[in-house]
Amino acid sequence: MIEMKKNTVLSGVQPSGDLHIGNYLGAIKNFVDMQNDYNCFFCIVDLHAITVKQDPKILKTNTLEVAATYIASGIDPKTSTIFNQSSVSAHAELAWIINCVTRMGWLNRMTQFKDKAGADKENASSGLFTYPNLMAADILIYKATHVPVGNDQKQHLELTRDIAQKFNRDFKCENFFPIPEPIIDKNISRIMSLKDGSQKMSKSDLSEYSRINLLDESDIIIKKIRKAKTADTLMPEKIKDILKLNEINNLLNIYSGFTGIEKQMLVEKYKGQNFSNFKSDLSDILVEQIKPITSEIKKLMQNKDYLLEILQDGQNKANEVAQKTLNDVYDLVGFIRNET
Ligand code: TRP
Repeated sequence: MIEMKKNTVLSGVQPSGDLHIGNYLGAIKNFVDMQNDYNCFFCIVDLHAITVKQDPKILKTNTLEVAATYIASGIDPKTSTIFNQSSVSAHAELAWIINCVTRMGWLNRMTQFKDKAGADKENASSGLFTYPNLMAADILIYKATHVPVGNDQKQHLELTRDIAQKFNRDFKCENFFPIPEPIIDKNISRIMSLKDGSQKMSKSDLSEYSRINLLDESDIIIKKIRKAKTADTLMPEKIKDILKLNEINNLLNIYSGFTGIEKQMLVEKYKGQNFSNFKSDLSDILVEQIKPITSEIKKLMQNKDYLLEILQDGQNKANEVAQKTLNDVYDLVGFIRNET
């Protein structure tokens, strides 16, 4: 039986391609820091992944790779619950109920849908449109109180809060769903492309040089940092001037994210210099921090049975909690349940 005394955290990562340092700093690293203070559920959101086209075989490998990355980054499967979303059917079942709670107008305001659907909205899957409802289900099925997410997910979290409130009101069950709080690290939650500091670092960017993957070898990391865009100036002295230089600001965020050193301190150290020293220190830090994670991911990927066991165990633990919430929801909504 899972201890339910502590506050509950749920978060998820999509198994939609190689994970990069944006995923690590924006999400996974924070998960590691939370596991002792909260009752944590860390999900691999395979149902979300198929809102855009996926190759089924690659999806399976990517799912295992996210599990391996969670563990290699320091999430302890004994302390936290690691599982893939599709293995706990209550997520999809609650998502349907939520489809009937959320208003079209609310979904129409979601900027991520507009970004992801692009110009050809008519051809986007309807799953992509209702994506935020499934995300709300992920959170509410565990009655999560806190959700660590990147800045780009803030709007989805606000929607989740609206959904929880509407459900509680519509079905006259005040406090049934807690109103979840986002946990967003403002400084580092948005890691940008190394080629264009106005674009988010993304798995789907065509240029490999836009991102550093957690599976990149050291020489590749060094090369990518060497080629990263900077500016035709020296390192400015003032943060306010740095904020105008997207690429520099981003590299400083990465540096700060991996070392915990405040940006202001870094600026003190490198101000007035050209960027070569800074870049070489940054690649040293990245190599040093990423290498152990990379080799652990690779090792774990050789041991598929172990990963499958972790997911099975996570599924059992998650299912127990999720099923109970679903039963209560079905009762509140007015569905007849057989006793078996
Ligand atoms: N939408 C999130 C992302 O792309 C992933 C996600 C799915 C998630 N369900 C979640 C994050 C629940 C937090 C909580 O980053």
